[in-house]
Amino acid sequence: MFSIPKALFFLLSFVIRSSWCNTNDAAASTSYDERNSSTGYGTISTSINGSVLRATINNPPINLYDQKLSSDLFSLVNSLANQTEIKVVILASANPDFWIAHYDIHILSANHPPPPGDNGTETGIRILSTVNSLATLPVIFIAEINGRAHGAGNEIAVQCDIRYAGPGTILSQIEVGFNILPGAGGLQYLVALIGRARALEYILSGNSVDAVTAASIGWVNKAFGSKEVLRTEVDALAHRIASFTGKALSGIKQRVNVNKPSAESLAGDNEAFSQLLVEQPAAQRATDRYLELSQDQTRSPFELALSENLERLNA
Ligand SMILES: *[C@@H]1O[C@H](CO)[C@@H](O)[C@H](O)[C@H]1NC(C)=O
Ligand SMILES: *[C@@H]1O[C@H](CO)[C@@H](O)[C@H](O)[C@H]1NC(C)=O
Ligand SMILES: *[C@@H]1O[C@H](CO)[C@@H](O)[C@H](O)[C@H]1NC(C)=O
Ligand SMILES: *[C@@H]1O[C@H](CO)[C@@H](O)[C@H](O)[C@H]1NC(C)=O
Repeated sequence: MFSIPKALFFLLSFVIRSSWCNTNDAAASTSYDERNSSTGYGTISTSINGSVLRATINNPPINLYDQKLSSDLFSLVNSLANQTEIKVVILASANPDFWIAHYDIHILSANHPPPPGDNGTETGIRILSTVNSLATLPVIFIAEINGRAHGAGNEIAVQCDIRYAGPGTILSQIEVGFNILPGAGGLQYLVALIGRARALEYILSGNSVDAVTAASIGWVNKAFGSKEVLRTEVDALAHRIASFTGKALSGIKQRVNVNKPSAESLAGDNEAFSQLLVEQPAAQRATDRYLELSQDQTRSPFELALSENLERLNA
């Protein structure tokens, strides 16, 4: 038998009760000035040029979306509320192989939970707040993707406003291999980006896409042949956008958001995610198998070919 991760009960009830549309209720963090480019965020370094902030994620070895990165990204995103200095934010990675690998699977594991003090419930709450803020804050978020973005990594990417991708890009939703589903907005946003049939193809199979394929179906806006050109083009777009008034930019984003996935559909996904995780012993078996095969979420051959290896989690 297996026991259910305690964090899940809390997360589930949190989601059911929450309307999931007011980010400003989230425990407010330090102000923008307090955590600026010189102090950094531990797993995220920032630099500012005019009204453009470049945030570079560096959480070795694989840019895992764990407690540290979730906390830093949450603080960064919250620091962008109630300010007008920064108009455009670029989310980039310092790791050539990983943009954001995926969620810390220990958080989903009953047998191998995160270490004491590493509160999985809080990481769960923070990802919901963070992706909601990416989509709703009056700041434009550009994902400069190069490397892998599976699961939560792709969920963060698809909830940015614009995606440009480099040659190392590999995107997928791997949840099906764990016998669960994308619970933090990845499912609904992917449907919105690539349509029902393609979203079903990729979410049901866990298959990955490269940058060129992703650009051809609308998963990313554009693909570039080198990381240098990617960065140049992202910077050029960011600075062009930032040259216009914040009121126009936020007004446009707000009106485009009329068509974004509803808070109800997103909350429903998270509820379904939690229920699949809690109800199925197969989900716990897959997390155990994953932690073993990936050599505990390190830069292992299994991790580098995660989407291709997905069926082995249930073998
Ligand atoms: C932004 O300002 C509103 C209104 O003053 C406040 O309620 C909210 O807590 C602020 N949010 C952050 C993240 O500082
Ligand atoms: C960043 O924060 C530190 C410490 O609070 C402060 O000394 C420094 O002047 C700040 N730098 C900028 C560019 O605001
Ligand atoms: C800042 O951005 C401008 C474009 O607006 C660019 O010409 C300049 O080189 C950038 N500065 C740095 C330090 O990156
Ligand atoms: C984890 O965080 C949740 C939400 O903040 C809190 O209710 C719970 O007591 C925390 N658990 C531990 C072990 O600190």
